[in-house]
Order: sequence, then C-alpha cells, then structure tokens
Amino acid sequence: MVKKAAGIPVRSYFDAEVYQMELDLLFRNRVSYLTAAGKVKNDCDYYVVERLQDSKILTKKGGQLQLIDNICAHRQAQMLSGCGNSRFLTCPMHRWSYEHDGRCVHSPLYRDEKATVRLGKGELLQWKGLLFEGPSQPGPVFEDFHLLEAMQIDKMVYRRTVREDVGYNWKHYIDVFGENYHIPFIHPGFCAFLDMPSMQWVEHGEYHAQLIRPRSPRHLRSNNATPVYRKWIDGLLEFFKGDIPEYAGILLMYYPNLMIECYPLYMLITTIHPTGPESSVLYSDYFHHRDIAEARPDLVAAAEAACEETMLEDSDLCSRIATGRRLLYQQRREAEGPYQRPYEDGMAMFHQFYNRAMEAVASAGLASAGGA
Ligand code: FES
Ligand SMILES: [Fe+2]
Repeated sequence: MVKKAAGIPVRSYFDAEVYQMELDLLFRNRVSYLTAAGKVKNDCDYYVVERLQDSKILTKKGGQLQLIDNICAHRQAQMLSGCGNSRFLTCPMHRWSYEHDGRCVHSPLYRDEKATVRLGKGELLQWKGLLFEGPSQPGPVFEDFHLLEAMQIDKMVYRRTVREDVGYNWKHYIDVFGENYHIPFIHPGFCAFLDMPSMQWVEHGEYHAQLIRPRSPRHLRSNNATPVYRKWIDGLLEFFKGDIPEYAGILLMYYPNLMIECYPLYMLITTIHPTGPESSVLYSDYFHHRDIAEARPDLVAAAEAACEETMLEDSDLCSRIATGRRLLYQQRREAEGPYQRPYEDGMAMFHQFYNRAMEAVASAGLASAGGA
C-alpha cells in the first residue's frame, strides 16, 4: 500500500513560476517517448517529431535510424514538417541539403561549407519497437515489473497518432489517470469490461502500474455495455472464443508524462506535454496486436471506437476538475480531498513523486543561496 502522501497545492496547477520549474526539473534531461519505430519504415523515410515540437527529424537510411536537428546549420531556420521520403533533406531557405545522418552535402554557391557543417544529433534509444530520446533507456526501469512480458508491447503494430490541444494544466490529466474511482460513474462502457474489485497497483519510484482483470465471460455476455463497448466486447469474445486474457488492462504511468496502456489486442501510448500553466497538448498513439492489425479491420475499428469513447469521457472529467480548481485558485483557497484507497493510490504515488522532485529543487536552491 502506498505510504501517506501529501497532495499538490492548487497553486501548482496555475502558477507560471511553478510551470517553469517543472519544465526545468521534470521534463528536461529525462527520457522522452518519440514515436514507434514503424513510423519510418522505408529507406529514406523521414518524420518530423511532433512530440519534440518539430525540433528534430527521425530518419531511416541503410536500415539505420537517426535523430537529427530540424534546425538548419546555416541560418537556423526550421526546415521540414510532417513526414515523407526523400534522398536528401533540403532546407527551403537557401537550399542546403543534408544526408540522413545530418552531414551537409550541398551548399549552393559556397562549396567549401559542406565539408565542415552538419546537423546536431539526438540520443536515439530503442526499446520494444518504441523510440525514445534521452540520457537513459526506459527499459531497465521496468525490469522488475512482473507483467512487462504480458503487455506484449513488442507485438503491437503502430497505426496512427491523434493530437488534442487542451486548456488545462498537464497534472490534471495525470491525476485522473492515477485513479479508478471515477470509472463506474464516468465510463459506463469501459466499466462493463472491467472487474473493478480486482484492481491492483504496483508502486515504483519512477512509475506506477494498475492491473485490472476482466469481468467473467458470463457477465461480459450479459451486461449493459454502451453500444460502442458492446461491439468491442463481442469482438473479443468471438476472437478469444470466450477465453478472455487474464488482464483486461495493464496501465503503466512512467513519470512525468508517459502512459502505456495495454488491453487485449490493442495498446495506447499517450503523452501529455505542458505548453503553458493552463494549456497542454496530448498525443495518443494507437497500436494493434500483429494478429489483428492487418487481418481484422473490424476489431481494430471497434477497439479504437471504444477507446475514443473513454477518452472523451476523461476529457470532460479533466476539464471539470480544472474548472473547479481554477475557481479555488481565483479565490485564493486551498483544498485537497482525501485519497480514496485503493482506487486513488496511483494519484497519491504521482503526488509523492512530484513533491519529492520539486522539493529537491527547493532545497538545492536554498543550499546554493546559503553558500553564496
Ligand atoms: S537557413 Fe537553411 S539553408 Fe539557409
Ligand atoms: Fe478515466
């Protein structure tokens, strides 16, 4: 059971100074999820990484994946957007061209330049078919997580990414991800699939995981799922011949902002990126198990529809919480409800991580102030 935790002050969800501290402390120099390796499949494919604010390009050449700057070495223009396939990567400004590893191969009129110039490179890391940038592999962090293999991450095939701009602080979303208490009230479809009393948490300093088993096949056949979930559940019952996998969901929250959710036959990877004290951008990557990714478009569509229904309901919940806390903030009031154990343990774990990290900065600041 998670230790007693202190909450996050209301001010932290709105304050510009806290926001800057979070960027420096929680988001810089940490491993960042970029995309799936399957995003660049063919030789000379490139993809400008949205999750890095289009600052880097993922390229593939000769089977080699590389992460290079999307900022031109000549006058620092942002060069490309989106994705494509091209023998060279060319800046539209003065047409300098680069190899897929960042070497400059053409600089019009000034031939000598190209010999010495190259684009900066990022530290690209691969783990189970997923790509990251950062100082360390995410894999070792999960080494002791006993259900990592059951998640079948490396058997999932990337399909698409959805972006959503939201008008609230990123932590509201992480809070909601760390509690299951709302599921029966907010998610009637999703809840029809889950055996809520079976829910368990796994605690780790760098992540938390929630494990939920499915309802019994008899319940799954008979319950009142929403029409969208009815379709997905019926598809699963047919695919697995009534023998649904042991876990209905294994959900990892890798602090501060990466969520990997594995359900039978599909996986959702979501990251939320702060863009201001009260604005964020959400990216959600859909993956499907290789057994159905091509062969069963009906199951793929049913899973994505079900997932979208749940995400829409969560979006409304996050907005309402953000609105309530904003009212408190405007009235200069503090409030924090009790953690409802065990359903809200994940939120308590995230708050512990957050407070620990932010306090580390505060004490480092005090120490340096004292030494001055
Ligand atoms: S800024 Fe890119 S070629 Fe000049
Ligand atoms: Fe939810």
